[in-house]
Amino acid sequence: MSIKVTDPDNLYSEHLQQITAGYLQAAQDQGASAVLISSGSLKGCFLDDHHYPFVVNPHFKALAPVTDVPDSFILLRAGEQPAMLLSQPEDYWHKPASTPDAPWTRDWQIHAVTSLEDAHNLVGNGQDMLFIGEETELARQLGIQQVNQASFLNQVHFSRAYKTDYELRVMQIANEIAVRGHLAAEAAWLGGESEFGIAHHYLGATGHREQQAPYSAIVALNENCAVLHYQHYEMQPPAEIRSMLIDAGASYRGYAADITRTYTSTRGPFADLLAAMEREQLAIISDIRTGDNYADLHEKMHYRLAHILRDAGIMNCSPDEMIERNLTFSFLPHGLGHLLGLQTHDVGGFQQNPAGDTQAAPDKYPALRLTRPIEERQVFTIEPGLYFIPMLLRQLKASADADKVDWALVESLIPFGGIRIEDNIAIIDGKTVNLTRDAFAAAGTGQ
Ligand code: GLY
Ligand code: MN
Ligand code: MN
Repeated sequence: MSIKVTDPDNLYSEHLQQITAGYLQAAQDQGASAVLISSGSLKGCFLDDHHYPFVVNPHFKALAPVTDVPDSFILLRAGEQPAMLLSQPEDYWHKPASTPDAPWTRDWQIHAVTSLEDAHNLVGNGQDMLFIGEETELARQLGIQQVNQASFLNQVHFSRAYKTDYELRVMQIANEIAVRGHLAAEAAWLGGESEFGIAHHYLGATGHREQQAPYSAIVALNENCAVLHYQHYEMQPPAEIRSMLIDAGASYRGYAADITRTYTSTRGPFADLLAAMEREQLAIISDIRTGDNYADLHEKMHYRLAHILRDAGIMNCSPDEMIERNLTFSFLPHGLGHLLGLQTHDVGGFQQNPAGDTQAAPDKYPALRLTRPIEERQVFTIEPGLYFIPMLLRQLKASADADKVDWALVESLIPFGGIRIEDNIAIIDGKTVNLTRDAFAAAGTGQ
């Protein structure tokens, strides 16, 4: 099997059937015969009449490809077509959601509702229902006893890691959209633009409003590349542009791409490190084997990083000693990657089974978000990094291991910030499919 390169509409009905069956089976295991899912509500800002951007309940968009419909509900009931209660309030300040007529709606009963009371009436008595959503009080008013019940959520969160054909296809498209943004961002960077300018080129090329992206794009120049989740945009370009790290995604039908690239315009030690990281990132991807635990892959990456640090002369001890003393942590304090899908950091990364047993991150690598075995139809990221983070370097310099570091070389690398290279990987027929590299190749580049 490979990803079916077809209009996602051709794959949607089967997806909906599979996902619906999973939710209803999990509900039945809890003694319920229906599931009510709220889309969520707009949240007001403190002492203000504005709202935060709306973020839909991921369980809602798992079923229907709509992300901008507050105060709406999905009702799944065994033996019935899924129903959507779509909120269309009388409102002349805002434009209510229009009734969708895209092909996916063929599989739905769609009811427009103008108020919560309307929705209540359509839902009826909630005694046999489970509820998923933030509106717990509302659920109680409907007589629903089982609200966001952990054993139910564990079951559906566990299976979310295994993608349907539709999900694989839409995530492939999300990668293609993000790659358009990355190519535009690279051109803007080469043109000497500021972080702000580059971010705007990125969004323009993806066709996203900022709130439609799965997360705010990280666009970092020079030292800022060392801030793992750098959240600012400098409005002016720096006097000297040495490096750019851009971690930016795209959404398609509610599913995320999450891609990072690092660039330098210089030659010398930083460029050499970037080439080494590129090589090792690809090597770790080619190391992926179905059945291996992701945490082992993470540990192997630290060995690879240790070799890079020794070969570059940054550290003067053996890779084994670096690992034993956890010295690579100072240069790579985040995890190798995470599950990806409806959410950028998708749920269930520690879950070992549908019952909800978990395997925590190893003590040595507390930031790792994924400890599951690698299995068919999973999609996850591989995103090794190598950073020069002043805070962590200060700690290393104050430690008993300070003499293992070439501090002059490290000082010369701090102005470049760091490196992260992140691809989205799908496991299909036991093979590793690199959604990100494939999308760059399809766009005619070799990144
Ligand atoms: N963009 C956040 C991450 O890569 O995990
Ligand atoms: Mn990521
Ligand atoms: Mn990322």
